[in-house]
Amino acid sequence: MIVRLETPRDRDSALDVERTAFDGALEAEIVEAVRDEQGSFAFVAVIDGEVVGHVQMSRAWVEETAVSALGPIGVMPGHQRRGIGSALVRAALAEAERRDEPAVILLGEPAYYGRLGFVPASRFGLRDPFAGRDDGGPVVDEGFFQIALLDEDSAGLLAGEVRWHPAFG
Ligand SMILES: CC(C)(COP(=O)(O)OP(=O)(O)OC[C@H]1O[C@@H](n2cnc3c(N)ncnc32)[C@H](O)[C@@H]1OP(=O)(O)O)[C@@H](O)C(=O)NCCC(=O)NCCS
Repeated sequence: MIVRLETPRDRDSALDVERTAFDGALEAEIVEAVRDEQGSFAFVAVIDGEVVGHVQMSRAWVEETAVSALGPIGVMPGHQRRGIGSALVRAALAEAERRDEPAVILLGEPAYYGRLGFVPASRFGLRDPFAGRDDGGPVVDEGFFQIALLDEDSAGLLAGEVRWHPAFG
């Protein structure tokens, strides 16, 4: 298995992976909306020349501080639970650090992302505009809103309201 930055030739396969992993079109639509924006990047996992996993990163903000947002992430059902998702997250974190992003935020399962270096964002005093929504929005449970701090010196800047790309709304 190879994990590498997405290239233009991977883009259709990456959308297929997201559609298949989530069994729906929404996550692929988010990828299409954010992938060409400033601050976006993506990784793919490739086995025998076939894209079997994909993670999308995009620009988000904590008040005036730019951070990186992780998601959607998907692995083809037949390839799940073999470490591919974890490898994609680790690659995305390393690239975000290389780009001097102070932190990576996401909405996801705490048990999964806790193993990969994420902690509840509420620990930093971050507020997620989606928390508490009951209108079918992306998240209701504040515990799903998590952060991986990449630059200890930036911790003091990471308080206040978070803005995701509008596609996540
Ligand atoms: C979530 C996903 C990307 C993980 O990729 P993966 O390659 O299967 O994950 P890994 O092999 O690195 O890790 C597997 C471990 O993570 C845990 N895990 C996987 N998905 C999980 C989930 N949704 N919630 C909690 N734990 C999860 C399992 O405990 C598993 O460990 P185990 O096999 O010992 O039980 C993949 O399962 C997927 O595409 N799911 C459907 C789409 C999705 O839900 N995306 C994430 C939205 S935040």
